[in-house]
Order: sequence, then C-alpha cells, then structure tokens
Amino acid sequence: MILILLGPPGAGKGTQAKLLASALGIPHISTGDMFRDHKARGTELGKKIQAIMDSGGLVTDDITNTMVDERLSRADVMSGCILDGYPRTVGQAEHLDGLLKKLGRTVGKVLSYEVSEDALVDRIGGRRTCPTCGAVYHLTQNPSKSVGRCDKEGATLVQREDDKPAKIRTRMQEYAVKTAPLKAHYASRGQVIELDGLGAPGAILAETRRRLGR
Ligand code: AP5
Repeated sequence: MILILLGPPGAGKGTQAKLLASALGIPHISTGDMFRDHKARGTELGKKIQAIMDSGGLVTDDITNTMVDERLSRADVMSGCILDGYPRTVGQAEHLDGLLKKLGRTVGKVLSYEVSEDALVDRIGGRRTCPTCGAVYHLTQNPSKSVGRCDKEGATLVQREDDKPAKIRTRMQEYAVKTAPLKAHYASRGQVIELDGLGAPGAILAETRRRLGR
C-alpha cells in the first residue's frame, strides 16, 4: 500500500512515518531527508538546493520529481511505501499520478495530520537533530538522555537551518499556498483520512492504524 502523509511543518509526519514504517514493514521515503542527505554529502544536487532549503522555500518540481522517480523505481517499494513530504504541490501530485499509472499502482490512503499553529511553532522551535544519524528529538517533548547529545551517536545535536524563527514563517506560507490544496485533490477521490496530530506519538500511531485497518 502506498501511503502519503500530509500536514504542515512540524505536524509530526516524520515521527509518524518512522513508527508506521516499522509497524507495517514498508520503507519510509522522506524527500526532506533525501535532500538533507545530499546537502550533507555536498553532492551537485545538494549544492543546487542548499540555498532554497535554508530559506524555507520549496525545491523545484523538476528536481524533486526526478529524485522521487528514481527512488520509486527500486525493488524495496514493491510491497508499498510511506511518502513523507511528497507530493507537496499539485504539480508533484499530478506527476505522481502519472508515474503510478505507468507502474500499474495507485495511492492507497492520504493521512492528514491536523495540529494547532501554537503546537507547530513549539515543535519546530524545540526540534533538535543528530547530524550523524538523523535522529529527531525535542527539547521538552522528546529529549535526549544526555542534554544536547544524540542517544545513539553521542554527537552534538543541531537545530535545522530552516527551523530558525525567521524561516518558519516562509515554510508555513509555502505550505498554505502550495501544499494545503493537495488535501482537496485527494479528498475528491475519497482517499483522505484526517487525524488529530496532538497527543503522544504512540497514541497517534495506534489511531492511524485503527483508521487504516492495518
Ligand atoms: P521536510 O523535512 O519534509 O520538512 P517539513 O514538511 O517542513 O516537515 P518537518 O520535518 O518540519 O516536520 P514533520 O511534520 O516531519 O514533524 P517531525 O516528526 O519532525 O522538508 C524540508 C525542506 O525540504 C522543505 O522546506 C523544502 O525546502 C524541501 N523539500 C522536501 N520535500 C520537498 C518536496 N516534495 N518538494 C519541494 N521541496 C521539498 O516533528 C517535529 C518536532 O515535533 C520534533 O521535534 C518531534 O520530536 C516533535 N513531535 C513529533 N510528534 C510529536 C507529538 N505527537 N507530540 C509532541 N512532539 C512531537
């Protein structure tokens, strides 16, 4: 089953995607993580997208679709996958529709996580990540055992460049203008499941699975 996770920055898509991927035994595909990996490795693609990402803007549809096409061509997605952060524009959604049609596949369900703006700002402001393994923490909601250090790697945790206050507004605006309309795109096909994104991650996962029947 191909699942799409929708929701504004900080809604908990990455957190839920990891939990769901492990529960359902299918890969978690995060375009944000893929772009951050290119940036960290200093690839040509990473250099091209660095300024856009750091500003809080969206990478172009062409670049994003090409990267996703390659990822969805791999064998490990045959039994399904969880798309986190893709599609993010109507153009990307139409591209995905075309790609899946060629592959003889369809989108299963679209999980839309709803979270109040106050909670989003708190979650994004308090997020810290491990530069080595990508583990995600929150200063108060999900702190590391040793302050400022990754539980697995011991590396010093960092704040994402686009999580700094000046960039959050740009990301929220990009979401409202370019990504929010996707909900209607999928709702018109009866594919959207709305979920309350507030609460403990484990409880949100349980409710997601109950609604999916998986
Ligand atoms: P991306 O990495 O996808 O960022 P995003 O969509 O803004 O989402 P976030 O990672 O901010 O939040 P999330 O919903 O995953 O929340 P999380 O689980 O981490 O994209 C980054 C950038 O890449 C984009 O701005 C763009 O430039 C580019 N990009 C990516 N995809 C693209 C595309 N398709 N097209 C074009 N450009 C693209 O949780 C947030 C915090 O809250 C964490 O600290 C977490 O520990 C905490 N938390 C999570 N759940 C809970 C809970 N239930 N209770 C309390 N705290 C919680």
